Amino acid sequence: MSTSTVVKLADLPKAQPFVLSDEERHDIEHALGHYPDSRAASIDALKAVQKRRGYVCDEAIPVLAEAIGISAADLEGVATFYSLIFRRPVGRHVILVCDSISCHLTGYDELKGELVKQLGIQLGQTTKDKRFTLLPICCLGACDRGPTLMVGDDLHGPVEPADVKKLLEQYA
Ligand code: FES
Repeated sequence: MSTSTVVKLADLPKAQPFVLSDEERHDIEHALGHYPDSRAASIDALKAVQKRRGYVCDEAIPVLAEAIGISAADLEGVATFYSLIFRRPVGRHVILVCDSISCHLTGYDELKGELVKQLGIQLGQTTKDKRFTLLPICCLGACDRGPTLMVGDDLHGPVEPADVKKLLEQYA
């Protein structure tokens, strides 16, 4: 005799519709007022959501696209291309570790190894306590300070493996 349970589609929890907050809408309208072409406001609009929710969920894309006046496909393209827009939930602090050539030459491998060791996660992962997400990124524009990383808006470099523990302690 089968013990499986039949779940009706109608009984499944429904996805919450995405609604822009007043603050998000205000930021988007502000950005739209700054650019002659509304497309140029795309990143500002995505950031307006990310700033408050930590990331930009799939459901936000068509709503934002409508607010800006562009197609959802165009906005999806921008959101996918721009590596500082996060499309999945991230930790409270996002660590972006530069993996471009200058930082490779100045100690990227050792720095990444220490981050992986201290955090107990690999690149692309979030710690269990949701405190940190570790991501690779192309050149942070501070090649003379390699190896570099960013935590939130803070640029750090050069970061020696021995500095990592203390650096992480700054971010609760
Ligand atoms: Fe790392 Fe430029 S290569 S900051």
